[in-house]
Amino acid sequence: MSTMADWFEDRIAAAVAPLLPGFAVEAVAEIDSTNTELMRRARAGRAEPVLLVAERQTAGRGRLGRPWQSAQQGEQQNAASLTFSLGLPLAPRDWSGLSLAVGVSVAESLDPSGDAKVALKWPNDLWVNDRKLAGILIETAMPHAGRAEAAATPRYLVIGIGINIGPREAEGMRTPPAWLRQWRPDATGPDVLAELAAPLVRSVQAFEAQGFAPFAERFAARDALRGREVQLSDGTFGTCEGVGWGGELQVRTAGGLQMVSSDEVSVRPRGMAF
Ligand code: BTN
Repeated sequence: MSTMADWFEDRIAAAVAPLLPGFAVEAVAEIDSTNTELMRRARAGRAEPVLLVAERQTAGRGRLGRPWQSAQQGEQQNAASLTFSLGLPLAPRDWSGLSLAVGVSVAESLDPSGDAKVALKWPNDLWVNDRKLAGILIETAMPHAGRAEAAATPRYLVIGIGINIGPREAEGMRTPPAWLRQWRPDATGPDVLAELAAPLVRSVQAFEAQGFAPFAERFAARDALRGREVQLSDGTFGTCEGVGWGGELQVRTAGGLQMVSSDEVSVRPRGMAF
């Protein structure tokens, strides 16, 4: 029978609590989805700051309604995926660009020097050599379901992150994934979580105070699409000119400069399948 890894819950909570009073870390062996669980709690009126990490998700979710499949779990300390969600109340003036800011924070934690070439694929995938290393799913809930709230009222924000730590099955995937141990052979999920949790909270708080602006240049430095021919899921082709101050993707098409901000639109380098 497998045992739970040591997720350093107390250490992470101690590092984050000064930034976020009341913050707690919970580790579970199995759950349907860490995002689904924190959204369930928020809808039930629970809005405490928490980080929930699961060694296995039975119904992990990705963007655009896609499933998120984690890699096969081996020895827990060597688990091939890190899957967790951070939940906290947040009240930025403008939410645009949040998912990009989160991507910047995670990429900088995983690859501080940039040597590993961890890139950001708009809006918030992490790629290495055009292969997906990590995905981010952001959701929000109103504090009391069904009640109309003023714009400045905090919403409960759930940031779900899945990172490939070790190799994973590429079956059914058009492009094989990337994984962290390709350049950090000894990396474990608990180590990585301990490294990125506090910087992630600091980044979310910086975003709440200042919006996307402090992240724009850092995103540009890792932008996987800038200068490349891209194809949008609505069939449009163009050249990616980077990301604007509100986090929107700028694509030069035959019809002019198109600003893509919709979460419903996917973008790929031209020729790469959706
Ligand atoms: C994507 O690439 O489309 C986003 C993937 C997000 C996966 C993470 S794993 C932890 C959290 N729980 C989920 O069900 N999804 C996110």
